[in-house]
Amino acid sequence: MNLKKLVGHEAAKLVNDGDVVGLGTGSTTHYFIEKLGDRMKKEEIKIMGIPTSYQSFFLARKSGIPLTTLEEHDLDLAVDGADEVDPHLNLIKGGGAAHTLEKIVDASADKFVVVVDESKMVEKLGVFPVPVEVIPQALRVVEEQVKKMRGVPKLRMAQRKDGPVITDNGNLVVDIEFGLIEQPGELEIRLNSIPGVVENGIFTEMADKVIVGTAKGVDVLNRI
Ligand code: A5P
Repeated sequence: MNLKKLVGHEAAKLVNDGDVVGLGTGSTTHYFIEKLGDRMKKEEIKIMGIPTSYQSFFLARKSGIPLTTLEEHDLDLAVDGADEVDPHLNLIKGGGAAHTLEKIVDASADKFVVVVDESKMVEKLGVFPVPVEVIPQALRVVEEQVKKMRGVPKLRMAQRKDGPVITDNGNLVVDIEFGLIEQPGELEIRLNSIPGVVENGIFTEMADKVIVGTAKGVDVLNRI
């Protein structure tokens, strides 16, 4: 069973006619965006999307979803993937280097729904290194500050290894290992207070619902 497809399609059921929807980035939301395009055609419903990356921008365009911006519309719902989810619905995101715009869009929605397969569920965040978007000129000084916080920073390289990953915003991504994270909320704030850091991939107290794909079907976790 394709669990990413299962949860992507499940999340598409939450969208109502007339909604403005945040379109997350990654291989799981890929299925959500495609399904939304299908629903628009088959059910003749009207939806507008606000993408969280060029990847979701182009996929939405291909899927026939009209796009808008945060400047013009409020968001009813945002659906996005994650790299790790803890039992309090705290997240690590940014495996696709899109976490800055994802955080802006996801945080702006009335309801933020996360779609993951069960491999993303963890007791504590931190096995997945924390992605941090950094202004290129600040790379060395940010790395020094991170080391003082006992983090181990590693500049993310492009798959071809011939240069660094460059984000949609023209910046670098540093992946930082902290070991298991006891206080994700505190770390999220501390990382963002380093000059040169644009945004980090810890998302605390944001997700309202997590749809988890398991071998037995769909599990839904709601924030209390
Ligand atoms: C993009 O930067 C990320 O936050 C993704 O949403 C996250 O990495 C999940 O991606 P997949 O759905 O591809 O696992």
